[in-house]
Parts: sequence; structure tokens; C-alpha cells
Amino acid sequence: MVDHLLGIQGLSKSEIYRYLDTAHSFVEVSERDIKKVPTLRGKTIVNVFFEPSTRTLSSFDIAGKRLSADTINVSIGSSSVKKGETLLDTVRTLESMNPDVLVMRHSESGAPHFASRYLSRTSVVNAGDGAHEHPTQALLDLLTLRQHFATKKRGLEGLRVGFVGDVRHSRVARSSIWAHLTLGNEVRLIGPNTLVPTDFAKGAFGTDSVRVYNDLAKGLEGLDVVVSLRMQLERQEEHYVPNLDEYSKEYCVSERMLAKYAPDSIVIHPGPMNRGTEISGDVADGPRSLIRQQVTNGVAVRMAVLYLLARTVGATEEVGHG
Ligand code: NCD
Repeated sequence: MVDHLLGIQGLSKSEIYRYLDTAHSFVEVSERDIKKVPTLRGKTIVNVFFEPSTRTLSSFDIAGKRLSADTINVSIGSSSVKKGETLLDTVRTLESMNPDVLVMRHSESGAPHFASRYLSRTSVVNAGDGAHEHPTQALLDLLTLRQHFATKKRGLEGLRVGFVGDVRHSRVARSSIWAHLTLGNEVRLIGPNTLVPTDFAKGAFGTDSVRVYNDLAKGLEGLDVVVSLRMQLERQEEHYVPNLDEYSKEYCVSERMLAKYAPDSIVIHPGPMNRGTEISGDVADGPRSLIRQQVTNGVAVRMAVLYLLARTVGATEEVGHG
């Protein structure tokens, strides 16, 4: 049976932990001198990116290669989409070459879901669709938090997590919020009303348990985890903030604010960062920041996702990755 990873919404707690446990077992491969295991030898992974990407694309590509799969990257600039081909034709053309996994990023919400409905032999992984979901980013954030809180003798549950900034346009926030709600964590959304509408949480997640704060200080109070989000200017067709200077005066996550209101918190950011807008340099480079670990963990998480999906495609045997 062909399996997909299209979003975090709908995944059970045990499915989330399955991805994280598998990712944990792959972390060590990237620390070896020879960073390669034969696990997916003979499998083909196509990374088709209809939107620009630096870290996600390179992370999937490296992940596939470390598993010994054959990987190819198709980006919009060099594909037939520019010549007017429909998404369905592009996807079917790629499937005709028999890849095992199609990793897709697209500016339209739902594009990978659409593709998955027409593919019978290929697993689809959503690498970010519009403002909808970015499941592997949520999983790598969780792996990073899990590693950090293990050093404090805590697990991933019972955490207070605050998302600061452009929640409205963030697929990273949506995927992560689903994950934290499934884990039973306290979720707060912090930002101006235009970017974090009061009724947003109820509408998007169907729960009253997500609290909205328009005041940064109040929202930060007592948080364990601060998720700083990039201002998604490319997705904002209207003006959601008067200007970026005004925005950063009120909502930039700075060491001064964290020291005062969330002194024990750690900070993550999916990248790319706008230093001085949503996060200050002293936080990004300071001791609370787990941003570099997030990128490192991105490879292990994508290895886990590719492994769990690709081995089910036409596989009759379990393949170890030792
Ligand atoms: C994010 C994305 O593209 O959704 N970046 C990423 O994948 N690391 C977040 C962003 O663009 O702000």
C-alpha cells in the first residue's frame, strides 16, 4: 500500500512518536565519518519544488543520499510548468518514471493532497503547501524540543508553547500547532490582531484551548518554548502591519523580553530569519537558540520520513538501516 505524509493534522500521537523515534535512530548516521547507509538503495526520490527553498530542498536531498536512494531535484525554473503544463500532467509525467517518493513544495494549499489522489505507486511528502502545512518542519521542531527537554528530565508533553508573529500565513505554525494540540501542550498565539485574529484558532483548529495574545509580554509569560515566525511578506497581499519597524518594536523576540517574561524558555525559528524584525540577533545567536540544531535535525527527520514511506512502496521485506 502506498502511504503519504501530507500533514500533521489527523496524525495520532503514536504516529508522531513513530516518526520521532525513527528520526532519533538516524541522527547518528550524519555524525559518522562515512555518512551513508544502504537502507534505500535502489529507491528513487524526486524532489519537485514549485516554490523556492534553500534548507528544505537541500535537507531532503541530503537525507535521500544518506540513505543511498537516487535523488533528483526538479525546480520550477527548469520544468515544463513554465510552458503551461498542469500540475496533474507534471505529476503523472514524473510518476511514469517510477519514483518511489515524490517530495513536493507548492504555493497552493492542497497541491500535494491533490497529487496524492492520482498517484497509485508513489508516496507523496508535503514539503510545504501554501499557508497550509509543512509536516517535516513540525517534526524536526519536535525532535529538537525532545532532545532539549530530555536534558531537563522532561518529555515533549506538558509544555507551554508560544508562536510569535505571522501565524496567519505560516504553514509551519499550522503543522506545529496540530502537533502540540495532539500532544496535549498549551498553545499560545502571539501577534497583532491582523496576523493572529482572535477567532483564528477556533476556526482553524476547532478548539477554544488555543489562547491569542496581542501583547508580547503577556503572551511570553511562563513559556517553555518560543517559536518565532518569519513575516511572510510574499503571502501578504494587503498590509497587515503599518511597517516593519513598528512591528518589530512591539513583537520582535529579544533577549530583553525573554529574560524578563520567559527566563527559562528556549527559542526556535524555521528559517529563513529576518534578524531585527521577528527575532533579534542576541536571541538567534544566544544560548536559548536551538535554530542550528533544527537544521541538523531536519536531515534525520527527512531520512525517517523517506525511510518509513519508501520501504512500504512495493516492499515485501523489512530493510534495516544499520
Ligand atoms: C518555512 C517555509 O518555507 O514554510 N521555511 C522552511 O521550510 N524552513 C518558513 C518560512 O518560509 O518562513
